[in-house]
Amino acid sequence: MALHPTLAAVADLIGTWLGEGQGEYPTIEPFSYTEEVTFTDVGKPFLHYVQRTWSPSGAPMHTETGFLRIADAAAVEFVLAQPTGQTELAEGPLTITEDGFTSRLESRVVNSATAKHVETTVRRIELTGDVLTTNFAMAAVGVPLTHHLASQMHRGC
Ligand code: HEM
Repeated sequence: MALHPTLAAVADLIGTWLGEGQGEYPTIEPFSYTEEVTFTDVGKPFLHYVQRTWSPSGAPMHTETGFLRIADAAAVEFVLAQPTGQTELAEGPLTITEDGFTSRLESRVVNSATAKHVETTVRRIELTGDVLTTNFAMAAVGVPLTHHLASQMHRGC
C-alpha cells in the first residue's frame, strides 16, 4: 500500500513511540507519566493517531485519538477527540528541519455539557531523528494559556 503523497513530510512518524512526560497546571499537583503514541497509515491522506498514558504505578491516565491531516505539505490539521469531553481541531504550519519537522498547532475546542471548560490549546510537536517531543499548553478552568504537558518519546520496536 503506497503512502499518500501528501504524507511524505511526516512519513517518519508512522509507527509506535514510547517515552516519559511531566504535567503541571496552576490548579493541580505536578505529575509524571509514561506515554505511548501510535501513528498508522491506512492508505488515505491522513494518519490515524492513538495516544495512551500511565501513571508511574501503571494506572491508566489520559488517552486521546484522532487524525493527522497534511493539507498541502505546509500545514498540519490535527483532529482530536478527548475522553474528558472535548474535541480539539488543532491547526498550524509545518516546518521541515534537517532531521525531521516541527509544528505549532493552535486549536479550537468544543466542550461537552459536563466537561471541565477548555478554552483553547497550543500543541508543539517536534520530530528530530528518532526522538519525538511534545509540548501542550491550554487556557482552561479560568486560567489563561499555561503549560500543562511535556514529553519525549523514542521510536518503539
Ligand atoms: C498526556 C496527557 C494528559 C495527562 C497525563 C493529563 C493529566 C492530568 C491530571 C493528572 C490532572 C489532574 C487531575 C484531574 O483533574 O484529572 C489533569 C487535569 C486537567 N487536564 Fe490534563 N492530562 C493530559 C492531557 C490533557 C488534555 C489533552 C487536556 C485538554 C484538552 C487536558 C485538560 C485538563 C483539564 C481541563 C484539567 C483540570 C484542571 C482543573 O481541574 O483545575 N489534559 N490532567
